[in-house]
Amino acid sequence: MPGELTKNKNIDLYYFSGTGNTLLVTKKMVETFKDNGINANLFKIEDSNPEDVNLEHTIGLGFPVAELSTYDFVWKFIKALPESNGTNIFMVDTLGGVSGGIVGPLREIVKKKGYNPIGAKEIIMPPNIFYIQEEDINKKKVEEGLIEAEKYALSIIDGESKWGRVPILSDIIYYTSIVGLKITHSDLNQKYFHLAPDQEKCNKCGQCVKLCPIDNITMEEGEFPANLKECVYCLRCTSFCPKRAISSPFNYKGKTYRAVKAREILG
Ligand SMILES: Cc1cc2nc3c(=O)[nH]c(=O)nc-3n(C[C@H](O)[C@H](O)[C@H](O)COP(=O)(O)O)c2cc1C
Repeated sequence: MPGELTKNKNIDLYYFSGTGNTLLVTKKMVETFKDNGINANLFKIEDSNPEDVNLEHTIGLGFPVAELSTYDFVWKFIKALPESNGTNIFMVDTLGGVSGGIVGPLREIVKKKGYNPIGAKEIIMPPNIFYIQEEDINKKKVEEGLIEAEKYALSIIDGESKWGRVPILSDIIYYTSIVGLKITHSDLNQKYFHLAPDQEKCNKCGQCVKLCPIDNITMEEGEFPANLKECVYCLRCTSFCPKRAISSPFNYKGKTYRAVKAREILG
């Protein structure tokens, strides 16, 4: 069957990545599209205005799974996409193992806005939180994940990808997750989330301020960086701090994970 994309040779893939897994996957997909004659581009969700998406192009959405859902600001971006009259759209998420309330509810959101959902895929990558595995295990998982990313991109080109209605379970998880219940991260933060630099190690280089996708870290002149209460726990600051001065209380033995270099996240 000729692919959906034979009519439309442009793909704009909007992504967010905390520690690099989603960046690697979406980059691989863009490479595969380009190798097959499609004009594909990658855009950072945190730097993009949803109202500016080009509805003449196929739209892609890429993000990590977080707390059986994804980050509030990713949902906000998606929910603020303009209404469309049949623009093709696909999604890809990366996860450590268990997803939940994303694929089904996201399909409903974009369908209601008039998009044509052409593909959804969840790709297992190394977990970046709790128990960080050994490097060789992570390397293998990344390799396998990138093979999946390439296959998925090819299936989109061939018109064989699918975004099924998917399990009712997905809806249940969505509506009982923090997004569905409209509990914001800041509600949780006040109790649980706090990433503060170790003042013995921090040299006030300001990398964490640049990395934070929601401008939640401030650094007054001469002061240590301060993490405000909106933290969504994407782990960028902890994973890419050059002095390892910010540790995550949820990571076993303070071990951190990064799939790419900080400059690739910033670039
Ligand atoms: C706060 C947080 C919550 C997470 N929750 C889940 C989860 O519910 N299920 C899962 O399989 N992985 C979960 N993960 C792991 C990430 O989804 C996974 O490692 C992902 O590939 C990270 O992508 P990134 O490197 O692009 O940020 C979580 C990670 C973080 C930081």
